Amino acid sequence: MIECENATFERVVEDGEFIQLSRGAYGDVYEAIWKEKEKKVAAKKISLSEQKAGNVAPSIAEADAIRRLSATLSEKEHPNIVKIFDCTKQLVREKEFFWVFMELCEHGDLKSDFFANKLKEKSPKDIEIMKVRIMADIAHGITFLHDNGIVHRDITHKNILFAKDPSIDFVVKLTDFSLSKKLEPEDMSSLRTTKGQANLPFKPPEFLPREDRQ
Ligand SMILES: Nc1ncnc2c1ncn2[C@@H]1O[C@H](COP(=O)(O)OP(=O)(O)O)[C@@H](O)[C@H]1O
Ligand SMILES: [Mg+2]
Repeated sequence: MIECENATFERVVEDGEFIQLSRGAYGDVYEAIWKEKEKKVAAKKISLSEQKAGNVAPSIAEADAIRRLSATLSEKEHPNIVKIFDCTKQLVREKEFFWVFMELCEHGDLKSDFFANKLKEKSPKDIEIMKVRIMADIAHGITFLHDNGIVHRDITHKNILFAKDPSIDFVVKLTDFSLSKKLEPEDMSSLRTTKGQANLPFKPPEFLPREDRQ
């Protein structure tokens, strides 16, 4: 049982083992239950004291940055960003861990069987439509982060997740804010420029004036 300020979580056990969604570079991700709400969630356990598989454990400063960012994101909501419910530090036998409890994306990431099966099942035309939808979801998520002064800095197939959506089959959500950074407004405006990019056939959002970024 892991106690946060306002909620209690417990990892789900199946056949005597915790259900593990991934063994990651920064931490392990498990399926868990939010006890008060009886709701399935995803729980990311980040080790703050140990090196993991050759990766340096995040420093206390980095962990604090992740904690602050998680707190910012848990206050906001966007359909294309994995919702963070709570986070806490935990000390087990003198080892320190940091837990992030978040919305469970049942269909896994862009490398999952779910996506591979969609590619097999659908016609070429429907695959194109699906890919455009996925790209639009990703773009909306990134725009939301930028509008809140956050740069993700780790947009990869493993950080793009599929969640169930009853009305439109699935919705794509961005996750993993381990490398993200919260910028001050003056830093954000320095990311935006229209200089020297006039001939590109496409532009990243930071090159567009704010009013064109819908
Ligand atoms: N909320 C979630 N729902 C379902 N699967 C998840 C969730 N969060 C992470 N995962 C799975 O765990 C993997 C690692 O999580 P991530 O937060 O990206 O950690 P890492 O820092 O190890 O990259 C993801 O690539 C995805 O497969
Ligand atoms: Mg990741």
